[in-house]
Amino acid sequence: MHLSTIISSFLAGATFVAAAPAKRATDPIPVEYVSMLNSYQSYVNTTLSKKDHRNGLRVCNHRNVQVRKEWRSMSKRERKKYVSAVQCMYRNRRSQANRKKVPGARNRLDDFLASHLVVSEKIHFNGHLFPWHRHFVWLYEQALREECGYKGAQPYWDWTLDAGNLLASPVFDGSDTSMGGNGEYFPHGHTELQAFGLDLQLPPGTGGGCLKSGPFSDLIVNMGLNQTIAPPASNVTAPIPKTLETADNKKVEPLSSPETSNITSPVDPTFETEKTFEPVGLIKFNEALNYNPRCLRRDLNLFWAEQLTASHVLYLLQASNADQLEKRIDGWDGPDPTQPAMHPAGHFVVGGLQNDPFASPGDPMFFLIHAQIDRLYTIWQSQDPARLYQVGGTDKPLDLNNEGNPVKLNDRLNFGIVDGKRKLKNLLNTMDKYYCYAYE
Ligand SMILES: *[C@@H]1O[C@H](CO)[C@@H](O)[C@H](O)[C@H]1NC(C)=O
Ligand SMILES: *[C@@H]1O[C@H](CO)[C@@H](O)[C@H](O)[C@H]1NC(C)=O
Ligand SMILES: *[C@@H]1O[C@H](CO)[C@@H](O)[C@H](O)[C@H]1NC(C)=O
Ligand SMILES: *[C@@H]1O[C@H](CO)[C@@H](O)[C@H](O)[C@H]1NC(C)=O
Repeated sequence: MHLSTIISSFLAGATFVAAAPAKRATDPIPVEYVSMLNSYQSYVNTTLSKKDHRNGLRVCNHRNVQVRKEWRSMSKRERKKYVSAVQCMYRNRRSQANRKKVPGARNRLDDFLASHLVVSEKIHFNGHLFPWHRHFVWLYEQALREECGYKGAQPYWDWTLDAGNLLASPVFDGSDTSMGGNGEYFPHGHTELQAFGLDLQLPPGTGGGCLKSGPFSDLIVNMGLNQTIAPPASNVTAPIPKTLETADNKKVEPLSSPETSNITSPVDPTFETEKTFEPVGLIKFNEALNYNPRCLRRDLNLFWAEQLTASHVLYLLQASNADQLEKRIDGWDGPDPTQPAMHPAGHFVVGGLQNDPFASPGDPMFFLIHAQIDRLYTIWQSQDPARLYQVGGTDKPLDLNNEGNPVKLNDRLNFGIVDGKRKLKNLLNTMDKYYCYAYE
């Protein structure tokens, strides 16, 4: 079931058909892919070398470049330092959001979750995908460094290393040097996902329950609306999550009564069993910003792992322009039903909260997934100097008929409470303007 299959099925009004991935995890690593990785490394070196003789805070050269490493290339000590900084974000740092506008935010990680929730409909399946997420990951990296004492760079997860044996990945082994384990297994059905005009049924994976092992087992996801795990073959109608009454949020505006705004969605009966919340201060314009505390779920998924191989990356990197790159990573580059959808697959392979395209930053794994996507983007950019400042596509998600506004260098992208607005053209070069980082 590749995304394009789903999309074309959806458009045709048919039910989805599962198609086998064309490439296998056991395929050898293509030489063209290796050669692209090498030319990226020389591009980085050349770019930095040109500025090595210069001094100054704003100059990006070999002396101050932040080198982002793959998770397993970091030493255990480095991984623990990263983990501690992430824990600090949700354990020790309060939300900086206006409680009246974001009633659900409690900690700094929540601010990033809220930022993504608010603009989700504008930054996916369109020409803003890569630059928006690039800046978002960078902002998170800065918060880890400036607010939580982290000295290193943001790690990435090279999923091609795990495509053939996901359940043995050191990223998810549940140890204190991992990003946590799988969700606890419990029998469950597909995930019903309605977003961007699509109605998808995502296949169940190997976990589905709460994350109980590793460093983030105490993490509470405070916002987001979607139920990402369905019990087998049953749907129920659930009231929307209620907002917890505290002295702080008593005066939240605008107010709406929960009795008048129910939603219907597939719901996991284990949700909302621990606490009941007083119906106070619900906001209506974006219900996902209300306080909805629950455990972090994962559901490692072997189906999606199969389309995260080096061969699939090569296919992606062979895109001839920025528009095609986005369409390829999102799986809608033409009607070919067997094409991979590496961006959705990169989330769905982790599953649970990652099956919710709006609330996915509530899992710290989001930032390793999107660092990998940013890495693929910069590798693609580095293959041809003309690509560095190339933009493409429109601003409308899944714009099959080209109805949106063409993406322009002067577009302003919104980062909400974590940064405000930034011009797109300043988000294109990882070694200029705000940025000074490269991938190892
Ligand atoms: C990096 O670039 C400099 C200058 O172009 C060159 O002298 C050096 O050998 C390069 N280093 C590597 C590791 O490629
Ligand atoms: C998921 O959440 C978004 C808002 O965050 C909402 O627009 C969408 O309808 C939800 N989908 C489902 C299936 O609940
Ligand atoms: C659950 O909902 C889905 C989509 O809304 C529907 O296709 C399915 O038949 C429902 N299942 C049950 C058991 O009601
Ligand atoms: C919302 O759900 C409650 C409890 O199931 C029900 O009493 C109420 O009538 C529903 N409201 C609407 C508008 O559907």
